[in-house]
Amino acid sequence: MKIISNPLELKEYLKDKNQSIGFVPTMGALHNGHISLIKKAKAENEIVVVSVFLNPTQFLKGEDLDKYPKKDEADKKICELSGVDILFFPHAENIYTEDEVSILSPNVRGYILEGTSRPGHFNGVLTVVMKLLNIVSPTKAYFGKKDAQQLHLISLMVKQFFMSVEIIAAETIRESDGLALSSRNAYLDKTQRQEALKISASLHAASKMVTQKILNSDEILKKMREHLEPLEISYVEIVSRDFIPLRHVEIGNTIILVEAKVAQTRLLDNIWL
Ligand code: PAF
Repeated sequence: MKIISNPLELKEYLKDKNQSIGFVPTMGALHNGHISLIKKAKAENEIVVVSVFLNPTQFLKGEDLDKYPKKDEADKKICELSGVDILFFPHAENIYTEDEVSILSPNVRGYILEGTSRPGHFNGVLTVVMKLLNIVSPTKAYFGKKDAQQLHLISLMVKQFFMSVEIIAAETIRESDGLALSSRNAYLDKTQRQEALKISASLHAASKMVTQKILNSDEILKKMREHLEPLEISYVEIVSRDFIPLRHVEIGNTIILVEAKVAQTRLLDNIWL
């Protein structure tokens, strides 16, 4: 596995490869969710590039940038063992200068849900993803469905900026008890981890109601809020795949999303119906 930190060196290295490139962008602290993205990228491409970059511009003031789990050596090992060809490991100075051009997330879909709790967060995500995609020029780039709004906005950016990469959405990976994998799970102690299960349980309850043909969003959301008690809910919402709020679940076109706080840790989860 080659490790490169300079964007221009990586561009030069990939320039004449003439092979399909699968790209998995990450912020490090890799877990089985990331490994499943890497496996998918390996199965579908000739070369796999993973980036590990804790992107400062997607964290708001007072958020967890300084305490975000950092596991550089373990990440390198995981990439090596997963058969990654190139690990892109830039420093912030390799990616950002001063007085920068940046990408703005859309006024509506970038400022609902996650964008309400974290206004401006998606500007940072889209800007860094644009940079990373331009550096790697992948054939396909892989993102988890767990960050459904991020995935949607990246897909919109790629379409609206006429970019050539294909965005691949990968299923959320869960622990055996239902907890969706996230680097932020590392913040949870034993009791908090148990409390966090209310999030996947609320989604499970929602999906059960849908199988019982209860499709009314208000009814489903009420039941989900009961399951989430006493967590602090940032949002529970039922939207279409285009992130338009739905009054009724439409099978094949619905995402039910939750963000709740367990102690100080904000956790996201969702199901696609
Ligand atoms: O999902 C993440 O880990 C990050 O938001 C991403 C896409 C790597 C951009 O920093």
